[in-house]
Amino acid sequence: MANETVSKTFLVAGALSVVCSAFVASSAVLLRPKQAKNKDLDRKQNILQAAGLLEEGKSIEELFQQFEIKIVDLATGEYRDDIDAVTFDQRKAAKSDDQGIPVEKADDIAGLARRSLYALVYLAQDEKGDLRQLILPVHGRGLWSTLYGYIALDADLSTINGFSFYEHGETPGLGGEVDNPRWKAQWIGKKAFDESGDLKITVLKGRVNPDSPTIEHEIDGLAGATITSRGVDALLKYWLGENGFGPLIDRLQSKEEKSNG
Ligand SMILES: Cc1cc2nc3c(=O)[nH]c(=O)nc-3n(C[C@H](O)[C@H](O)[C@H](O)COP(=O)(O)O)c2cc1C
Repeated sequence: MANETVSKTFLVAGALSVVCSAFVASSAVLLRPKQAKNKDLDRKQNILQAAGLLEEGKSIEELFQQFEIKIVDLATGEYRDDIDAVTFDQRKAAKSDDQGIPVEKADDIAGLARRSLYALVYLAQDEKGDLRQLILPVHGRGLWSTLYGYIALDADLSTINGFSFYEHGETPGLGGEVDNPRWKAQWIGKKAFDESGDLKITVLKGRVNPDSPTIEHEIDGLAGATITSRGVDALLKYWLGENGFGPLIDRLQSKEEKSNG
């Protein structure tokens, strides 16, 4: 066969595409465990970041060991030691019949449709075993995607120590500004609840007025991304409210009060 025939060209192109697709497919399969590990590491880093506990020179796994990890029954706020925290997957649980429930339309301000009955929470404690921080997973709809993140509350269970998303599909430069360190820095020190325990944290449309009497509960909206900003506001109101972690926060709050009084 002459070297420059049409059939030979097709033969070479076909053989090349088979080799390439085999290479791509096997790389995807081989890299899957590594991707899952990196995703898990990223999530752990996000939890540490929300809690302000990232330290140079220390590995994420090492730092992560300081947390006590608990599964909470959202309806009662009680811990469930009979569910394995290592294998529990809140997203899978939400979809399942035995560990997930539909969210009533009237309550579904975060656009969840379904949610898990249980959630993993992370407790940072001091040497005496007293709570220093409570880190809670939160999620809800933005414009294009569901945003997943963690909020860290101080021992008073109202002061925000940090808030950070580890997964979303909002537009870079618009809704994606949820990842902007300057926007994230605003959350630190804000109060989720007022003195009487009412949920007050709010993402505004526009900027916070420096003279606002309720400034300690207010966060700047994202410019040109009102829908994402509203989504963030709503998801926090859902998860810190009575249908989210409200019962857990109330229970820990009364435990604190008892141990202080
Ligand atoms: C390509 C494109 C991407 C957009 N991405 C976002 C986004 O990620 N989040 C968001 O809230 N709005 C996004 N918007 C803008 C919304 O459509 C809407 O106009 C905006 O939320 C209104 O906000 P504003 O009142 O602050 O202008 C996007 C618009 C376009 C054209």
